[in-house]
Amino acid sequence: MKVSRTVLKTSLYWQLYRLSLTLRWQISEEANHVESYLFILESFGLDEQGQGQIFNLYQDMPDLVEKINWNIEFANNAATIDAPKGSVESTQALLEDLISFYIFEYMFFPLGFSQIFALARQGKLRNTAQQYSYIWRDESLHAANGLWMIQQICRENPKVWNVAMKKRAREVINEAVKLEISHVHAVMPDGGILGFSIKSYIKYAEFLADKICEQLGIKVLFGTREHPMPWISEYELNHEVNFFEGRVREYQTGSQLSWD
Ligand SMILES: [Fe+2]
Repeated sequence: MKVSRTVLKTSLYWQLYRLSLTLRWQISEEANHVESYLFILESFGLDEQGQGQIFNLYQDMPDLVEKINWNIEFANNAATIDAPKGSVESTQALLEDLISFYIFEYMFFPLGFSQIFALARQGKLRNTAQQYSYIWRDESLHAANGLWMIQQICRENPKVWNVAMKKRAREVINEAVKLEISHVHAVMPDGGILGFSIKSYIKYAEFLADKICEQLGIKVLFGTREHPMPWISEYELNHEVNFFEGRVREYQTGSQLSWD
């Protein structure tokens, strides 16, 4: 039987095909990111063993392990839930997993990168920050893809996106902010790093959490109005940049240091 192009585009088959293509694209980009991180460590003169030690350092910090396990638990729950496929319960478990994935891409990445960007602003690790800018651009696309999947599921399954699920989504986003607060206290035990305070980090976490609430159409958690670190947009690449035409970023000198 010949299927018309219009029918194919609107069919479930097409949606699944598109999803599988985007996930393959994302996996290949994540592999590129690992290569970028290894390249950065190599440029500091670390051999393979040293690179491996840096990669595994997080395992010595329970707050970081907890953050990673948080995401994995949602994926495990969605895969093992004892409910028929396509039921409200199993679709809600998938939705929770996708929301945690979205938080990972949209919130956890820029927050982690913000410390390197803050250092670059002071003239430190500027090449590393440039690599992170490219990675952040990819993660933003992954986040957009995650949001598209969440919205698609909610649109197609209005029973799933009910009052209880919206309340649960807010709880999940709030949990993510709490994880970030523990994270930042673990990685900046002295209250901050050069020109960047824990307070700014937490404000940025709350700002991103409110953005996620808005994007999902639910009540915001913190009522943040202004971006706490507008300077970070200097490191946000929203389009392809020709390496030779990219402009040199302004950065503060030591005498302009501010902790907030
Ligand atoms: Fe990603």
